[in-house]
Amino acid sequence: MLHGPNLNLLGDRETDVYGTVTLEEINKQLAEQAEELGAAVEFFQSNHEGELIDKIHQAKGCFDAIIINPGALTHYSYALRDALSAVSLLVIEVHLSNIYAREEWRHHSVIAPVVQGQISGFGALSYSLALTAACKLLQKGAERK
Ligand code: DQA
Repeated sequence: MLHGPNLNLLGDRETDVYGTVTLEEINKQLAEQAEELGAAVEFFQSNHEGELIDKIHQAKGCFDAIIINPGALTHYSYALRDALSAVSLLVIEVHLSNIYAREEWRHHSVIAPVVQGQISGFGALSYSLALTAACKLLQKGAERK
């Protein structure tokens, strides 16, 4: 579970857009959900593009899926996009806010073309929906094998 720039400020940052829930609370809820689903989850937040890219590289061979909220990197980071594309894992892009209902520059995601799908606009629930989707997709893949 990767959280990009400024998401460490959740709960305090633009609460009218992102709500009052903190990143710590979101992670706690996701850890509980993961346990119920029988999945192991690791959390990482960084304000630095390169650190996120390093984590993505390290995920290959260690994790089955990446759920990522790239923050503003969503809209311009070709480096992050290439990293996600390079590791060939199941990737789900998540946004708390509905990026299509906000400023025009947020309407475009350079990440979207290399992910399985995008969940945007459901607040903290966006992450939870992504976790459910990842587990279901991985289960289906495993059953097919
Ligand atoms: C965000 C949307 C981005 O446009 C913004 O830069 C963020 C958060 C979201 O979760 O809604 O930092 O990814």
